[in-house]
Amino acid sequence: MIRTTAAALAGVCLLASAAAAGEFGAFVDGEGAEETFYACTACHSELLVVQQGLTRERWDALIDWMIEEQGMSELDPDERETILDYLSTHYNTDRPNYPLK
Ligand code: HEC
Repeated sequence: MIRTTAAALAGVCLLASAAAAGEFGAFVDGEGAEETFYACTACHSELLVVQQGLTRERWDALIDWMIEEQGMSELDPDERETILDYLSTHYNTDRPNYPLK
């Protein structure tokens, strides 16, 4: 019984780590990962986000586009800063986290 549970748990962990780099899907862990995950995966996969490599200015413009053209809700200014910091740190033009490891 105990062995079965342990094996099942190990299986779950393996699956989770194969599918995701961190706690928030394909997003790397870090300050702002949680906010970004919840704000950006309501309509599409985070894979659409992590495959991009943009400057902070272009992420900023992309969020405007998401709000103006794609029906995303306005972000609270603090939250927007947090998300922009996160995206421009981990998904800038040098694309340090893509392709996925
Ligand atoms: C309200 C729904 C919604 C939310 C929330 C949303 N998006 Fe999108 N996003 C879309 C749609 C719809 C598309 C596809 C548009 C198209 O290809 O015509 C898209 C496409 C994208 C793309 C691909 C753009 C391209 O050039 O192919 C990126 C990158 C992206 N979103 C990033 C984000 C980020 C970052 C967030 C969070 C800050 C976010 N999205 C939140 C609806 C949303």
